Amino acid sequence: MKASAPGKLMLFGEHAVVYGHPSIVTAVSERLYVETSKSNCLPKDTRFVDAAIKLWGQEGMNVSTQCSFSGVYGFGSSSAVTVATLKLLKPDVDNKTLFDAAYKIVLDIQKTGSGFDVAAAVYGGTMYYVKNQTIEPLRTLPIPLIVGYTGVKSNTVDIVNSVAKKREQYKEKVDRIFQSIGKIVEDAKSKLVEGDWERVGKCMDFNQEYLRDLGVSSEKLEALIKAAKSAGAYGAKLSGAGGGDCMIALGPPEKRAAVEAAIDGAGGEVVCVTATAPGVRIEP
Ligand code: MEV
Repeated sequence: MKASAPGKLMLFGEHAVVYGHPSIVTAVSERLYVETSKSNCLPKDTRFVDAAIKLWGQEGMNVSTQCSFSGVYGFGSSSAVTVATLKLLKPDVDNKTLFDAAYKIVLDIQKTGSGFDVAAAVYGGTMYYVKNQTIEPLRTLPIPLIVGYTGVKSNTVDIVNSVAKKREQYKEKVDRIFQSIGKIVEDAKSKLVEGDWERVGKCMDFNQEYLRDLGVSSEKLEALIKAAKSAGAYGAKLSGAGGGDCMIALGPPEKRAAVEAAIDGAGGEVVCVTATAPGVRIEP
């Protein structure tokens, strides 16, 4: 038997979401597959699979994994592998129980994380997410998303910790940034649902300014964002922890090729994914 779960991209609200503010996340069309296996073809990092087997499997059980996306993009392969393995072990589990179990495993291992990536892997689609509070699916038209990888793998846990340190030193200032990001997320939510891509792009630009203020952007991310916008994107921002990984942009269909060429020309790698992919499932 085989199960799969999608990767994710954060559209709005990264970092602030760790402190209880809202975010918007989408599941991407690239997936991670897990199947029961007699061989020992285990993933490189076995901690998540081991914890899932310990929780709902039997001792001595093996699973093999196969990922249609590179682990360097920051698409959330740890959460996807945890969710897919648990689903494989209990195919009839309801999504809420699956989410709770997978989020606990991810938190036990990583010690930090808002759980938005687990929610994307379980439920799929595009959703409004508030930690420990809300998972609200959003109905949108197809999102004209363009994704560029910086070529730099970032360490989420380190960056989240560095933001926490900054907040300890400058609590008022950082909390004000988080609140402002939260307001942008609310605005982006309604514009997304209306399909007002120009305004959603503007929200991306405003969100990026605050992420820059938090100190989580990088020269490479800025170069790709600038290139995308010069080529006609409605807006662009980093996606995820920052420091590297991917940037995202929204662009009208007639500008897509130009925006992709600009990202490529600025030294990025265009990653071909679509948004709003289905959540975890047992594969036929
Ligand atoms: C990382 O992809 C997104 C962060 O908000 C961390 C998290 O939500 O767990 C920085």
